[in-house]
Amino acid sequence: MDAIILLGAPGAGKGTAAERLVKRLGVRHVSSGDLLRSAVKQGTPAGQEAEGYMKQGKLVPDELIGRIISDLLIGGGPDLHVLLDGFPRTVPQAAMLERLVLAQGGQIRATVLLEVAENVVVARLAGRRVCSACATGFHVTTLPPKVTDVCDACGAALVQRADDNPATVRNRLAVFAQDTAPLIEWYGSRKLLVRVNGLGGADEVTDRIVQALP
Ligand code: AP5
Repeated sequence: MDAIILLGAPGAGKGTAAERLVKRLGVRHVSSGDLLRSAVKQGTPAGQEAEGYMKQGKLVPDELIGRIISDLLIGGGPDLHVLLDGFPRTVPQAAMLERLVLAQGGQIRATVLLEVAENVVVARLAGRRVCSACATGFHVTTLPPKVTDVCDACGAALVQRADDNPATVRNRLAVFAQDTAPLIEWYGSRKLLVRVNGLGGADEVTDRIVQALP
C-alpha cells in the first residue's frame, strides 16, 4: 500500500484536485468527509454519532474516523494506492495512520499541502455546489455546471453543503488552524511535505501537484 495525503484548509481545493488526480495517477480517492456524509445520509451508528460534530464544523472524534479509515485500508495489499483527502486531520490521526501503513509494509509517498489564502477559501466555500447523488463538486462562478444546478456527471440536482454557511465555515477554519495545521510540522520533520500553490484553475493546480510529487 502507498498513500498520498492531501492537506489544506477547508475549501483549499482538496476534493476538486482529488477528482482529477484519480484519473491522472490511478489512485483510489478516500475522502473522510464524503465517507462521513454518506454515513450520515444512511443513518448508520457512525453517521448518527458524527452528524452533530459536522453540523457545528467540529472534528468528529479521532477514534470514530480512525475506525472507518482502518476498515478501508487494512488488508488492501501492495496494490492499494490511495489518495487520502481530509485524513489525517490531527496529530493522533497521523500517528495512527503511520502505524497502520507500517504494519501493512506500505509507505506514505508524500503529503501535499495546498496553500490558499483565507479570503479565497471563504469565497470558494460560499459558492460551492455539490451533486446530491455522486458528490461531484462545482462552483457557481469558478467551476459552473453546464446547466445551472444540474450535475454534469450524472444529471442529479446540485445542493449546498450543510456546513458551508458562514458561521460554520468560520469554525472549520479555526479548527484547521488549531488541530490540523500542526501536521505541517509533523510531515515536514519526516521530509514528506510538499507545498503546492492552490491558486489558479483546477487543472493548473492538479498539474502542479503531479509535478511536485516525488
Ligand atoms: P471535509 O468534507 O473533509 O471538508 P473540508 O476539509 O472542510 O474540506 P472541503 O471539502 O470543504 O474543501 P476542499 O478542500 O475539498 O475544497 P473543494 O475541492 O470542495 O470535512 C467535513 C467535516 O467532516 C469536517 O468539518 C469534520 O466535521 C468531519 N471530518 C472529515 N474528516 C475528518 C477527520 N479526519 N477527523 C475528524 N473529522 C473529520 O473546493 C471548494 C470550492 O472551491 C468548490 O466549489 C470548488 O469548485 C472550488 N474550487 C476548488 N479548487 C478550485 C480552483 N483551483 N479554482 C477555482 N475554484 C476552485
